[in-house]
Amino acid sequence: VTTHRIALIPGDGIGQEVTPAACRVLDAVGKRHGVAFSYDELDWSCARYTELGAMMPADGLDRIRHHDAVLLGAVGDPSVPDHVSLWGLLIPIRRTFRQYVNLRPVKVFEGVDSPVRGAELMDLVVVRENVEGEYSEVGGRFGTGFPEEMAVQESVFTRAGVTRVADYAFTLAGRRHGHVTSATKSNGIVHTMPFWDEVVAEVARSHPDVAWRSEHIDALCAKVVLDPVRFDVIVGSNLFGDILSDLTAAVAGSIGIAPSANINPERDFPSMFEPVHGSAPDISGRGIANPLGAIWTAALMLDHLGHREAAAEVEGAIAGVLAKTPIRTPDLGGTAKTGEFTTALLEHLS
Ligand code: NAD
Ligand code: IPM
Ligand code: MN
Repeated sequence: VTTHRIALIPGDGIGQEVTPAACRVLDAVGKRHGVAFSYDELDWSCARYTELGAMMPADGLDRIRHHDAVLLGAVGDPSVPDHVSLWGLLIPIRRTFRQYVNLRPVKVFEGVDSPVRGAELMDLVVVRENVEGEYSEVGGRFGTGFPEEMAVQESVFTRAGVTRVADYAFTLAGRRHGHVTSATKSNGIVHTMPFWDEVVAEVARSHPDVAWRSEHIDALCAKVVLDPVRFDVIVGSNLFGDILSDLTAAVAGSIGIAPSANINPERDFPSMFEPVHGSAPDISGRGIANPLGAIWTAALMLDHLGHREAAAEVEGAIAGVLAKTPIRTPDLGGTAKTGEFTTALLEHLS
């Protein structure tokens, strides 16, 4: 039996409800494949912040640096400003562990209604740049209390940073359907985007087998809604990729299904796996959160850890419960609780 050490951070809100579901599925599929998980559960969260004044301990990152992976639910609570909770936990993990690729696959499962007609064959991956771009540390708020008060944030794009994420996207497309769409805004207004385009074009030259095009982010959003089946891999900057991943997830039926993998491709640090959705304070505490985002996320973690078949089995169980039963959570039009839905899904592991 291979045992993986997982740093488990359920976090806040529905993070507390969906991570147990993901662990149930991991344990069940692991048993079938000779894989075990040893979870170090960490209480890093807004609740911890409220009690102790910090989202995680001062040496938090060192405590998880040698784990095989980080599995996270969601971070954020209405009682704590988001910039405090996010810069106190999620963003430092992504940056310190050089998780510069954020992979966000999207597809429409049989049995799930897309709000978009003709979206059934949609099957794409958003490759989001995850450590620089618009989410930079350069800037701040100045002049509080003065009429000149301002907030400034510099976007930071580096040649190395754009090259490596673009290269990941083109390589991935080469193993999929051979097409990359690069999200841009290069019509001269946003200074960083012509640079992004230039670097992506350079990377494209070293992947002659992959076709690609650039699309302006505004028009791209419209096309994702009007004709979602034509995309394969979409590569975007940190903010564009963030927005595109909720948009594509909603087009596929629910943001409650969407998974994400914050990957450190060099594997010199652990990668982090978390659903695309947040802590959903509007539904938390009621046991009705859709666990599929967290469960599919667990499948991405299995794949990253080298257990391809186990990962495929989990995806198969998601497809199975959706296609063969009416059981689902309210976001998908059902009445099942998170736990019942997970139990039903486990019957489709095979
Ligand atoms: P959200 O994703 O938490 O919720 C958006 C909407 O989707 C809500 O109506 C919610 O009920 C619904 N939803 C989300 N996940 C669902 C699920 N699994 N099942 C059913 N419905 C689901 O986004 P938000 O409201 O913008 O943010 C809430 C908090 O979460 C904020 O503090 C935000 O900063 C944080 N957040 C954290 C992460 C993360 O930890 N990775 C991601 C996004 C947002
Ligand atoms: C996500 C989230 C985060 C992001 C927030 C909570 C900082 O929206 O993971 O998609 O924008 O990266
Ligand atoms: Mn997001």
